[in-house]
Amino acid sequence: MLETKEKNSGKTQFASKLGFVMAAAGSAVGLGNIWSFPTFAASNGGGAFLFCYLLFVFLLGYPMLVAEITIGRHGQKDPSTALMKTTNNLILKKLAHFTGLSSVLVAFFILSFYAIIAGWFIAFAIEPFTTLLGLTDVSLWLTSFENSLSRDVVFSLIFLVLTFLIVQGGVEDGIEKWSKKLMPLLFGLLLALTVYLMFLPGATEGLHYYLVPEVEKIFDKKVLLEALGQSFFSLSLGAGVMMVYGAYLNDKESVPKLAVQVAALDTLVAFLAGLLILPAIFVAKEKGVEVFDAAGTLIDSDRLVFSVLPKLFQTMGGFSFLIAPLFYLLMTVAALTSSISMLEAPVSFLPNHTKLNRGQSIRLVTFATFLVSLVLIFNFSSLFNLVMKLVTQYAQPLTSLAVALFVGFVWKKTKLLKEIAAENENFEESFFWKTWPWYLMFVCPPLVLIVMVNSF
Ligand code: PHE
Repeated sequence: MLETKEKNSGKTQFASKLGFVMAAAGSAVGLGNIWSFPTFAASNGGGAFLFCYLLFVFLLGYPMLVAEITIGRHGQKDPSTALMKTTNNLILKKLAHFTGLSSVLVAFFILSFYAIIAGWFIAFAIEPFTTLLGLTDVSLWLTSFENSLSRDVVFSLIFLVLTFLIVQGGVEDGIEKWSKKLMPLLFGLLLALTVYLMFLPGATEGLHYYLVPEVEKIFDKKVLLEALGQSFFSLSLGAGVMMVYGAYLNDKESVPKLAVQVAALDTLVAFLAGLLILPAIFVAKEKGVEVFDAAGTLIDSDRLVFSVLPKLFQTMGGFSFLIAPLFYLLMTVAALTSSISMLEAPVSFLPNHTKLNRGQSIRLVTFATFLVSLVLIFNFSSLFNLVMKLVTQYAQPLTSLAVALFVGFVWKKTKLLKEIAAENENFEESFFWKTWPWYLMFVCPPLVLIVMVNSF
């Protein structure tokens, strides 16, 4: 029996296709592209990582992105409710609930470490001004990674408060308009910086490292696992957010087409960021910055971007005063369009499954996130990388996989897929809709599991 689809639940939908693409791409494009992608690429053989990453985006990320958006659009509510709507079987409903709950927990934990990194970008955006005013101590406090506890606490809190205010004020519209203007600017700036960088000594070595893969590294289990995690992280998968955003999409739009746009934009920005940061590492190395240790391993990989970029900006003389804060500011905006989606996931969940209303949920989740951020800040060396690894390399792919299995096994059986594909009248003949559920059932799960098991 086909279930009838509850229209809208009183929610506003995106005014245009562009609105959805901007919001979903806003969620996807963030620190993952400009901070973690180049860092992973630099510590995993450059080209080999790029190759595996692109492969996973294409083979796994894209089909799973379609799955999450489609489920979300059908469910028109939070991830748990959306997944539960796919079945009438009690056990499956419980599993659906658990999967939805895991996805919003994933978003919650991501936000807790994301806020710390985003805080660094805010601090670096302010530093040129304190330097101009001659406040040397403050400048040092803002940018140093030694004894940086107080800086990290202050700026992760500032970032969380900004995220909170945007979500609470319901001004996603505002941020949508802003990001429509600012994201192309970020893109243009990345491009301009890359072109400039190419003329500096050391850049070609970096370019070669990034674009020419060493074949034996492609089969390295660490490279594979990190590329898998990075592709899910960058596409915001397994964290409920694409289901939440999918709920705002009207059913006449073609999900596979919109998902192509989101995935392509996200991948392009990551690729471009790699084109900037990897050569910048080699330029910085020429200038005497220690980035690799004697064994060739990256030193302090989480701070890589912050040791390499300032060196690049310094070469620009007077312009650096304009470029550096602009770059860090645009990065902060990119981080905010991602963090609002992370906060929105648990916030959409709580009112439907507890007694809390939306306002209380926003306050509670923000506060709880800050507490977890504090734990991470005070135990940085032991917990930060560990939590990030567990969440992005294991929890995200596994949760997203569970969603894919629901689409493949549960939906296929209940024939709901037919209704889902409402946008496409000839859907039964379309190659995509014919093969996609099978692909989700029989190709994605073994692929994810092989990479994971192989990594132990
Ligand atoms: N995709 C975001 C980035 O690349 C991170 C993110 C992960 C956002 C999961 C939402 C959910 O920065």
